[in-house]
Amino acid sequence: MDGIKKRIENSIQIRLSMYLSVMICSVALIAGVFAFFSALDEVNELQDDMLRQIATLSERQNWAELTDAEKNKSTNDGIDEESRVFVQLLPMAAPGGGITAMPATSAILATTAKTSLPLPGSLQDGMQTFNTGQEIYRVLVHTLGTGKHLAVAQKMSVRDEIANNSALRTLMPFLILMPILLLMVANIVRSIFKPVASLSAEIDRRDEQALHPISCEALPREIRPFVAAINHLLMRVEQFMGAQRRFVADAAHELRSPLTALSLQAELLDNTDMSANAREHLQLLRQGIDRAKTMLAQLLTLARVQTTAVSSESGVSVQKIYRRVLEDMMPLADAKQLDIGVVGDEDATVMVNELDLIILIRNLVDNAIRYTPEGGRVDLSVASTETMITLTVEDNGPGIAVTDRKRVFDPFYRVLGNDQPGSGLGLAIVQAISTRVGAGVQLDFSNERPASGLRVSVTFAVR
Ligand SMILES: Nc1ncnc2c1ncn2[C@@H]1O[C@H](COP(=O)(O)OP(=O)(O)O)[C@@H](O)[C@H]1O
Ligand SMILES: [Mg+2]
Repeated sequence: MDGIKKRIENSIQIRLSMYLSVMICSVALIAGVFAFFSALDEVNELQDDMLRQIATLSERQNWAELTDAEKNKSTNDGIDEESRVFVQLLPMAAPGGGITAMPATSAILATTAKTSLPLPGSLQDGMQTFNTGQEIYRVLVHTLGTGKHLAVAQKMSVRDEIANNSALRTLMPFLILMPILLLMVANIVRSIFKPVASLSAEIDRRDEQALHPISCEALPREIRPFVAAINHLLMRVEQFMGAQRRFVADAAHELRSPLTALSLQAELLDNTDMSANAREHLQLLRQGIDRAKTMLAQLLTLARVQTTAVSSESGVSVQKIYRRVLEDMMPLADAKQLDIGVVGDEDATVMVNELDLIILIRNLVDNAIRYTPEGGRVDLSVASTETMITLTVEDNGPGIAVTDRKRVFDPFYRVLGNDQPGSGLGLAIVQAISTRVGAGVQLDFSNERPASGLRVSVTFAVR
């Protein structure tokens, strides 16, 4: 119950729909009650008028002079017994208030007992309600020219039924229109809030790198200030992240000079005489310096692809890039006796910065060589359709477990238990380049059973 209340309180859309619906229902209810009672009055008035007209007509027709059969026929011909209108002469009232039956009248009362009512002669001229003991009647008493009193009567229950039915019929349009109106309100409110729903869906779909401003064009004026505030925030976040990346790039850059100096000193030291033990330590020192240099180079590459805008995009042949990368990496692959090469001779041209593509492929091939055991296989291939070009680097190493596939793209993340030297930045660089050139990266096993080997697919949309 509390949950529903909270949902209502938190949602402008639900609240607006509810308020409008309650308003419509209230207005319809008031209008319905008003229409009902005025229709009821109207129909009662109409039925009173009908009694008056019958009285007038009866007088004109000399009704009192007709025979019983004619009277019956003239008033009740073809009429349902329940809804009949009684027309009869009243017995003459005695001066003391008793009833003196006039011969003609008593004859009527006697012979048409079924078709006439036991009305007393004391009824006054005009419209009135009279209870016979069994039924209540609406009676109009009218004094004829002859001095006799003519009564025109109709059952109250029948009148009420007719009046109620007519009045209820006036409610029909409200009953039919109300649900339609409520549906329309719900629909209109939903369509008014549609831009907000699609805006949140759009923001939700963005990845953390997409900090470009939200477009205000299709949005209602009322939401624009809110979106403008979000855009300001996005801008500040982007500036902040830019500053962070520049700091990393600057730090990496600044570290390069002392590292180069260190490496130079280690080289000089290598040329001097020293004990075997000291040389062993020097060797370890040089390896450490080399690793630091590689990591620094990777860090600089990551900072560059993250901070600088894409420059000079042109059509680049994938086969050409594969050849270049393989030439560079061949010594590493040979050292592990890997069967490495390009599968198929299909080529494709992708619109990218050439250096970006080289760095991307080199990092993937470097990983494949590094993490595939000696004597393994590494295959590079390219496949294209009308809309997509997919570059694939596949190996038969251990692959990456499904649970690690998201995290390996994080900078400095390395899967536990791997004994290869590395910075944890390779796949972060691949991801950053893919994002900036608009490509998608997917990791899969190259063999499903047993699940092993890594297949990295980089997909470019054909432009
Ligand atoms: N081809 C591969 N086969 C198996 N594991 C891989 C492969 N490529 C990457 N990985 C795993 O993903 C992690 C992250 O890779 P990367 O970002 O290139 O960093 P690094 O190679 O420097 O460790 C690696 O530490 C490794 O565990
Ligand atoms: Mg790597």
